[in-house]
Parts: sequence; structure tokens; C-alpha cells
Amino acid sequence: MDIKKFCFGSVMNTEAVVLDIKESNKNDMPYLKIGFQNELTYELKKKDIIYGLGENVRGINKKGWIYESFCSDEFEHTEDRKSIYAAHNFLILQGSEIFGVFIDCPGKVIFDLGYTKGDLMCIKVPENNFDLYIIQGNSLKEIAKNFRELVGKSYIAPKWAFGYQQSRWGYKNKEDILNVVEGFKKNDIPIDGVCLDIDYMERFKDFTIDKEKFGDFENFVKNLKSQGIRLIPIIDAGVKIEKGYDVYDEGVENGYFCVDKNNKPFVAAVWPGKVHFPDFLNEDVRAWFGEKYKYLIDKGIEGFWNDMNEPAIFYTEKSLKQVVDKAYESKDKNLDVHSFFELNDSFLSISNRMEDYKSFYHRVHGKIIRHDKVHNLYGYNMTRAAAEAFEKIAPNKRFLIFSRSSAIGMHRYGGIWTGDNKAWWSSLELNIKMMPNLNICGFIYSGADTGGFACDCTEDLLIRWNEFSMFTPLYRNHSANDTRNQEPYSFSPSTTSALRTIIENRYAYIPYIYSEYMKACMENECYFKPMTFEYEDDNLIEDQLLVGDSLMIAPVYKQNAFGRYVYLPEEMVFWNMVSYQNRSFQVLPKGHHYIEVELEATPIFIRKDKILVLGKHSSCVDYLDNKELDLIAFVDERACYNYYDDDGITKEYNNQDFQFKISIEKKDNDYEIDLYAIENCIVKKLNLTIIDTQGKEFKKELFI
Ligand code: GLC
Repeated sequence: MDIKKFCFGSVMNTEAVVLDIKESNKNDMPYLKIGFQNELTYELKKKDIIYGLGENVRGINKKGWIYESFCSDEFEHTEDRKSIYAAHNFLILQGSEIFGVFIDCPGKVIFDLGYTKGDLMCIKVPENNFDLYIIQGNSLKEIAKNFRELVGKSYIAPKWAFGYQQSRWGYKNKEDILNVVEGFKKNDIPIDGVCLDIDYMERFKDFTIDKEKFGDFENFVKNLKSQGIRLIPIIDAGVKIEKGYDVYDEGVENGYFCVDKNNKPFVAAVWPGKVHFPDFLNEDVRAWFGEKYKYLIDKGIEGFWNDMNEPAIFYTEKSLKQVVDKAYESKDKNLDVHSFFELNDSFLSISNRMEDYKSFYHRVHGKIIRHDKVHNLYGYNMTRAAAEAFEKIAPNKRFLIFSRSSAIGMHRYGGIWTGDNKAWWSSLELNIKMMPNLNICGFIYSGADTGGFACDCTEDLLIRWNEFSMFTPLYRNHSANDTRNQEPYSFSPSTTSALRTIIENRYAYIPYIYSEYMKACMENECYFKPMTFEYEDDNLIEDQLLVGDSLMIAPVYKQNAFGRYVYLPEEMVFWNMVSYQNRSFQVLPKGHHYIEVELEATPIFIRKDKILVLGKHSSCVDYLDNKELDLIAFVDERACYNYYDDDGITKEYNNQDFQFKISIEKKDNDYEIDLYAIENCIVKKLNLTIIDTQGKEFKKELFI
């Protein structure tokens, strides 16, 4: 493996990297030039592609814009933004040469990728303290894999977390949750989890339960679990200032909160009003805060989502005073255009101000560090606190945890969702383009708010979005409290029926999705890949993705589209799937095609000499019965598949533990099939459909 490390200044150990790489001499640095103030530059050619930077706006190819890694509570994910919630400082350049660059830095990093000058990539680290890793390899896939070796294995979610999750800010009490569950049951729609948003807490205090609205919580959790449904509560970063509240009292007593310049706990305001921020960079604080999850775990909870952990700041006493004073000053005045906009802007920029991030401090290993310099490690370490606690509480159990803010390193501890998108077609498009870049950066268990968080969703958008989300490891429909309801049964009967079928499709695909996900995590591969990762000589197609090793998808993400163009880099089997039970396959030649895709259809493409594995749906993951699987193989010469499965609950996973390995080889007018299965294989029967390049189907049953 070829990784080179170069050190600039002295940087705090972010613990993003798990390999011990010796520092190289900067004079031997390949590809990049070191300029004024350690700016790193590279001359871009017209056709260069830049992959990576994980959670960000714009396309798979990041070239042509300027990105800033500074985790931001940014709910506008429009093209003009430079950062959203995460700091994923890894990119791969593909041009006349290919290489990867990882900037290991806890503070702001600017990636000017041909924005200031069209032919120049320029990476700047304002603090000037960082480690740079150059990652080499023979292919894009190999570079991505080498990078993942450097930063360690990705978090593995429990299998139930591959089921559908329903969420909404505004499920106010038990009754609301029961109504949701009833809605799913009545309409026969599979479901595995319901997320609890801040409404379940007492006055928005972490690790509390509103006893009036969510009384007898333990039995509530138990009862739902007996129906195969898990509740997934939210935890926020800010701890409410309230005497008598144990988390607040203990935090103050032990000095566990970040402090201001007078060494007093720093005060900011979020959902509960004024809060303190736990100093997650400090390991004692992590151990203390992590332990708190036990309160909910003891009540039967097995999954969480960590939010507002950039950390988001609505206002501070100072920023509030500034705007209020300004408003008073303006009272009764005849404001001219400049003073009006100044006043207006002061309100609009009251939240998440750099000035506030510069006014509090962490205490790490006896050192005092100003927050802005280590800002990107905050959400990472909040989620690490939870994961480290889970490890102590139940060492062999997998918990579900996904975070809003993240940085590379956190990928070992949890998954992410991509924050407050909108019920816009452009948010769906962004979701599609973001997934491969998240995977490249190690965030495999990830997904977006399906249907959109803010704004009102339409039936067609929800259907199209589900057709994409049925492939994302985290498959969650989430929306904000003031929007139109978007549960799958909230629209017309025909929409309910279409969504039921798509969600059933997801469950039938779980054998493939889970097998491919687990292999990606264990072998440091990507689950979602850009097309060029397999077809390196082709142009990058931004709106088609590879899912696992066997599939290509081409989602429809435009309103009122009855179809779309696709490019096939090689011959593939096309399945215009409405329901997974109804199968009709067509071999399409390499090249450009226009395919008709009715609203209810999900276009699936099986790659040449690859195999798709399908099961049957059930009402939840716990009830899936995958003793009998269907294999759909597109065979020109020889197709192989290694099927991975396990209990989905414990950490006893092993990348050699394939349930079965199958190889199907074309021999004149016949096929030679080799099947190897482990003793006690979960699968007992395989129904094979083999499709040849003429589109001829051959069926066979195999018993294990
Ligand atoms: C944040 C989260 C969102 C959540 C809301 C209320 O905006 O990103 O998912 O619903 O807070 O907790």
C-alpha cells in the first residue's frame, strides 16, 4: 500500500488515522506543490475529475467550486453553499494521473477546486497545522480502499437498521406514534423503526422522557418491539441549564462542559433555551456522557440519532444583545436601504457565528484549545462517546447510531444522515450524487431524509425518492413539524399502494443489500460507487450509480418525467421493476438508451457476469425468512457471487464467513454451476434464473 505522510506545523491528533505512517520529507512530495503559507496546489486539466469530500453540495465531480470544511448547521443545501454538516477532507483526483489527498486537520480547510482559477486546485488550511496524506494506487477503487485502510473500518449497523424507518418532528406523544404504527399495519406496509424527535423529551433535556406524553415508556418500547418495531430516540448536543437536572448538575460539578474565557461553562441557546456543551474532546467527558445513553438502553432502546452536534448555536447572550440593541437603535428611524439590510442581516446571521465558535474552549490532555481550531471534531466525538459507551454496556451487541455532524474518523463509530434537506426534486438529485462520495470517505451506513425534511412533499416526489432510498443503507422518511404529512399512507390510495410495493421491494432486496453492505464494511470497499470506479475509461455519468458489485441504478429524479436517458458502459440486463415478484428482463446493448419509466417503476440493471440475490419481503427485518433465495444471473462467460449473512445482532462477523459461494459458467449450450455452502448454511434452497446475452432464460433449483 502506498501512503505518504507530510506534517505541517503541529496538529492535535484527530484520531482519524489508524495506521502508523512515517513522516516523509516534503521535498519528495508527489503531485502537489507547496506554496505560500503551505497552500497545496495542483494544475487541473480540462477533463480531470475530483471525487470525494463526502457530504457536500453539487455533483459527484467536485471540480469547479470552492468547499470549506467547517461543520455547519446549514439547512440550505443549495449550490451556493460551501459547507454543510460534515468535514470529509478526502478527495481523489482522476486525470492523466490518479491520487488521493487526505487533509487530517481538526479545523477549517478550504478546497478551492478550480473556482478561483479554473485550472488550479488549491487546498488551504488557515491554521496551518495539519497532516497531509497522499494515497496512491493503480485504480480509483484501490486508492479508495487504501484510504480506508488508513482510517480504519467503517461502523457496522445491526441488520434491523436496514428496515424502513418512519420519522417526523412532531409525533408529540404515544398516541401519535401508535397512530403511525397503526397506519403502517392497516396498510400492510413493512416497517422496522420509528424515530423519536425532540418531542419525547421533558423540556428538550437529553436522557429524559416526558412522563405525561410518553409515560410508562419501558412498556411502550417493549410492546412495539414485540411487533418488530424499534423506537429510535434523538439526542442533542446541548445540555439544558436547569438546576436539579442530573446531566446539568453533574456536568457543572465535574467541569465537563466547554468553558468561556473566564473558565465558566459556555452558554449558548438551542432547542431547550440556554445550554452548555459537553466537552466531548475530553475522554472523561465522553465516558460520562456516553454512560447516559444507558438510561434509555435500560428501557429497551437499541438505536439513537445524535443531532445539533456541529454544534448548532441558535444564539448566544452576546449575539442576541447585539441584534436587540441594533433593533432598538433603529426604532422610529427612517432606515435607508443600507441600514435596513444591515438590521435584517444581523437577525439572519445571529446563529452559528464564527465569533461564537471562537469564544469557547476545550480542555484536552491538560491543554486548553479554542473551539474553532478543533470545531470539526465535535460531532465526531459526541458519536464516539455513544459508541464507546455501547461497547462497555453490551460489548458484543450492535447498536444503531447515526449522527448529523461528522468528520472522517467518526465513520468507525456511527453512520450519518445528511441533515435538513427539502421536499425538492433537487434535494433528491443531491442525495443521489452525494452517496458515492460519502462511501469514498468511509460513511457507508448513510441516507437522506426521504421525501425531504422541510417544505411540503408531493406524491410523485415521495414515490421517486423511495425508489432511490430503497437502496440506501439508512432508509428513513423524516419531515419537519410544520410540513405536510409524508408517511407512505398520507396520500391517495394509489400512492399508498405504490409506496407499499417499493418498501416491500426493499425488504426483498435485503439479502443483496446487506451482503453487499457487510462486504463493503469488512473489506474497505464502497457500497455506492460512481460508474467510473468500474468503467474507468468512460466519462463520469453523474446520475447513475453502482450499488454493490452486481447492480447499476438510474433513478428518475425529475418531476413529470416518464422516462430518462441511460448510458450502458457494457451490455446489461434491464429490469423495469414495479414489484420484485413480477420479473421481466431485457438485455440492452452497450450505449445510450431512452428508457420509459412509469412513476411506480424502479429501473434496475444487472451487470454482465454478475448475480443479484433476492428474498421475499416481510413486515419487518426480524421476520424475514431467507431460507429460500432467488438468484438472477446475467451470464456471458462466468458469474460468481459470495453471499454474506449473519445474525445481524452480534459483532461476530467475519469477512470469510460466506454462507455460500456460487459460480455459474457458460459451457456451449449449458451452464456449469459450482456451489459451495458452509455447514449450517441459513439458506436451504436457491432458485436460479440465468439470462444469457440473447436474453434466453434458463431456470434451475438448487438445494443446500
Ligand atoms: C434538526 C434536525 C432534524 C430534527 C430537528 C428537530 O433540524 O436536523 O432532523 O427533526 O432538528 O429535532
